Amino acid sequence: MSAFLTDGYGRAIRYLRLSVTDRCDLRCVYCMTDDVVFLPRHELLSFEELDRLASALIGRGVDKIRITGGEPLLRKDILQLFQGLSRHLASGALRELTLTTNGTRLARFAPDLAAAGVRRVNVSLDTLDPARYAAITRHGDLAGTLAGIAAAQAAGLKVKLNAVALRGVTEREIDGLIAFAHGRGMDLTLIETMPLGHLDVDRADQYLPLGDLRRRMAKRWTLIDVDDRTGGPARYARVRETGGLIGFITPMSHNFCESCNRIRVSATGRLYTCLGERGGADLRAALRGSESDDTLNAAIDRAILRKPKGHDFAIRRHGEPALERPMSVLGG
Ligand code: GTP
Ligand code: 5AD
Ligand code: SF4
Repeated sequence: MSAFLTDGYGRAIRYLRLSVTDRCDLRCVYCMTDDVVFLPRHELLSFEELDRLASALIGRGVDKIRITGGEPLLRKDILQLFQGLSRHLASGALRELTLTTNGTRLARFAPDLAAAGVRRVNVSLDTLDPARYAAITRHGDLAGTLAGIAAAQAAGLKVKLNAVALRGVTEREIDGLIAFAHGRGMDLTLIETMPLGHLDVDRADQYLPLGDLRRRMAKRWTLIDVDDRTGGPARYARVRETGGLIGFITPMSHNFCESCNRIRVSATGRLYTCLGERGGADLRAALRGSESDDTLNAAIDRAILRKPKGHDFAIRRHGEPALERPMSVLGG
């Protein structure tokens, strides 16, 4: 049997972010352009391949899997994947099977996701203003996403909201988002925008360091730092007035790479050991080349040993993105 996954810096790899599609029904302004071209469907891993790959990684010590995209709920018959992987929850090998979604299809899927063993979902929501939501997502309808969030809660799922911090937007939204999230028993995480993929706007205009936002929040709310609870990259504070948690994901201002426990697999089966990595390792070839998992495990081992110490993203005015690849290819 192959050993647990540890990288060249001694970091144990336990968290897999598995993208199942690069497609999305939204076009968030910080993520992609409106004329984005998606991959041909035949490039994607099949459900059998996704399951085999995830299971091999669980066998190597991965105990948390987050299904991402693009928008994962756009992938046809996606429930099959959750239902199949839930056997690893039942066996105890997998601690958590979860997903990050934009919420547009959550109302339809929430009960079945809960039945498949999903306990928690992270939903992207940057604003509570319908016009601003339509402007940020270009194709989104706030009411539908809010209905998705409500349906997820009604199905018993714990919901966390993700908001990308955007200058000129989030300063105005933050109080309402806190009240909305915490008033309904949801945590809220703020994310610094990262320079991945080409945009129609200058990312330097969007970038809002979370230290700035936190200082502004501290005028109204009392924030008490608490220990990390999810194994994800956020640092959390409790808001005394609401009792709820607010997470800060600060890849730009305070890099958290030294405690990184995760790897990513794209919908085409490329393993990226860091969000900042360029090429990735072709696991699809290893999956298709041999029925035994030996070739696959050898490819995984080679890639993990090359996991970089961290990324060196920088946001520069009029700057090129750090990588051409948008967030939608790896799901953040
Ligand atoms: P929890 O399980 O709730 O902790 O989720 P999570 O924060 O791991 O997952 P989520 O999909 O909600 O991630 C939120 C965002 O954090 C992602 O979309 C990325 O923007 C960012 N993020 C997550 N992991 C990393 C990472 O390893 N490096 C960087 N730079 N950003 C990350
Ligand atoms: N920088 C930071 N976060 C991003 N997301 C998408 N693009 C970016 C970016 N360039 C966020 C989405 C979602 C999560 C999966 O990633 O809003 O919450
Ligand atoms: Fe779609 Fe998420 Fe990108 Fe928005 S951020 S366009 S919801 S993949």
